[in-house]
Amino acid sequence: MPEEMQLLLREYPRVTWPDHPNFARSVQKWMGAHDTFRALSSYIREDSEAFLDKKMEDQIYAQKLAKYGHILLQSLHGHHTWEDRRFFPELGAAESRLITGLDMLETDHEELDGTLDDFKRVSNRVVQLAQLSPPDMYDETGTVLRHAEDIGAILNRHLTDEEDLVVPIILHHKLRG
Ligand SMILES: [Fe+2]
Ligand SMILES: [Fe+2]
Repeated sequence: MPEEMQLLLREYPRVTWPDHPNFARSVQKWMGAHDTFRALSSYIREDSEAFLDKKMEDQIYAQKLAKYGHILLQSLHGHHTWEDRRFFPELGAAESRLITGLDMLETDHEELDGTLDDFKRVSNRVVQLAQLSPPDMYDETGTVLRHAEDIGAILNRHLTDEEDLVVPIILHHKLRG
């Protein structure tokens, strides 16, 4: 994260968050949602690797991909919509010095949307092929894995930046308590 966006993070480093009296339950739950996204994207990567290594049966893989893919896409979409429309404007109103950082996070959401669309398209194809022509699943699964790796990389960076920017604003201004 750029230096100028670490304005409050220097005052409220990550190690101090858990014991801070303004570290509200709702904020802990919001961070819990981030952990769920990290976990789901790893499940999809690990399952795709297992299937490509012939360590997972095709129908099982298709079922798991459909399930975890759907939950990841739905929950990320809802999460981002809420952040863009409600959460970031509220944080920006409280801390105008960090609005540029919040705008950067919103841009990450747009970038991620494109990758999520690519992932969704090829995953749907794999799930269909599990019914129509299982041997053809392998080629497409390589593409699922590549997109899942991209999603994992973007998410890892975005979620960490987001927490580092947002949590200090919450603690400093006693928001969401
Ligand atoms: Fe976000
Ligand atoms: Fe988030």
